Amino acid sequence: MPEIHSSNDARDYARSRLPWMVFDYIDGAAGEGYGEALNRAALRDLRLQPRVLNDVEKRTLAVELFGQSADLPFGISPMGMCNLSAPGADLMLGRLAARHRVPVGASTAASTSLEDIIKAAEGHAWFQLYFSGNEASSNALINRASAAGYETLVLTVDVPEVGRRPRELKRGFKMPFKIGPRQFVDFALHPRWSISSLLSGRPELANFGGDFGEFDRTASRAGADWSLLQRLRDRWQGKLVVKGVLDRDDAVKMKSFGVDAIQVSSHGGRQLDSAPPAIHALREIRSAVGETYPLFFDSGIRSGEDIVKAYAMGANYVFLGRPWLFAIASGGESGLEQLTRVLTQETSIALAQLGLCDMASVGATQLKSS
Ligand SMILES: Cc1cc2nc3c(=O)[nH]c(=O)nc-3n(C[C@H](O)[C@H](O)[C@H](O)COP(=O)(O)O)c2cc1C
Repeated sequence: MPEIHSSNDARDYARSRLPWMVFDYIDGAAGEGYGEALNRAALRDLRLQPRVLNDVEKRTLAVELFGQSADLPFGISPMGMCNLSAPGADLMLGRLAARHRVPVGASTAASTSLEDIIKAAEGHAWFQLYFSGNEASSNALINRASAAGYETLVLTVDVPEVGRRPRELKRGFKMPFKIGPRQFVDFALHPRWSISSLLSGRPELANFGGDFGEFDRTASRAGADWSLLQRLRDRWQGKLVVKGVLDRDDAVKMKSFGVDAIQVSSHGGRQLDSAPPAIHALREIRSAVGETYPLFFDSGIRSGEDIVKAYAMGANYVFLGRPWLFAIASGGESGLEQLTRVLTQETSIALAQLGLCDMASVGATQLKSS
């Protein structure tokens, strides 16, 4: 496997290895993909102010997260069907989380059971809930997560309907996926993926079946409202994070409902093509909820400098999505470790350039208005 020197490398290698259907599922976005590109461009356009002669020899990337120490300032956002990138991907992500003491999101739509993910992550997993439209079955999942040892629940609220993602639609992507003539050609042209993936068994939605019925990825969740959030808050004793917030008034209301943290996110541009860049929403929401309320961020983070920028815009923790799956598709567990090293080095070097020794010192003063 060629060495990964940047998240772009991981994407390039993944593109050449994955069937088009799988690459387009991971890489794809809502509409024209303009919102997805804008997320990245808005981050790129931010400038950081270098400072010199500050003795930055002893630097640490550890940050405090819900009262515990995470070794790295970035984690793994919840993603459905990760095992499409390679067999065992969810467990690789779990082990990565355990090694670096960072959170990994276990999606409702995961291709490995929530029990197996938290075991691999040695407790460093957060359960991500998609409200199913049927509250009893959502509650059953929450109870199951609690019994498995999950202490943090992430409620994703930005999918009232699954966004239209033309690249997926064009490839005929469905879960569980069907192998028609088009997919057959696609898989035949990517034999390395096909042999390992199809021999290990087609990835499935592992949290469903039996008592838990079926999960329809495209089902409407449009009935969710504030009273649902209130009931969930009353029911869940652990930490509650709401993911997929871009509006300051929504954020202020969530804070008043007793939500422990908000993950500012545009779902990586996969939901509303016309959404504002998530990084700008982060700054607005930070000014609305005050200095100390925990805010997490994802959508478009591709480098250590991006990570530092998100902290400067008000994040207390940052997550990445697609790059992890690209790293797995490129080089499995070793690809993941390489990407982690890249992001770690980039973040640490960026801190040094800014004259800082830790992430807690990063703030708005590091931003240079151009
Ligand atoms: C393949 C894929 C599957 C995803 N599945 C979920 C999911 O099941 N639940 C969820 O809350 N977010 C899901 N997301 C969104 C991510 O958690 C995250 O918000 C997004 O990927 C961040 O943007 P980035 O990919 O630009 O880093 C998914 C994203 C991708 C790329």
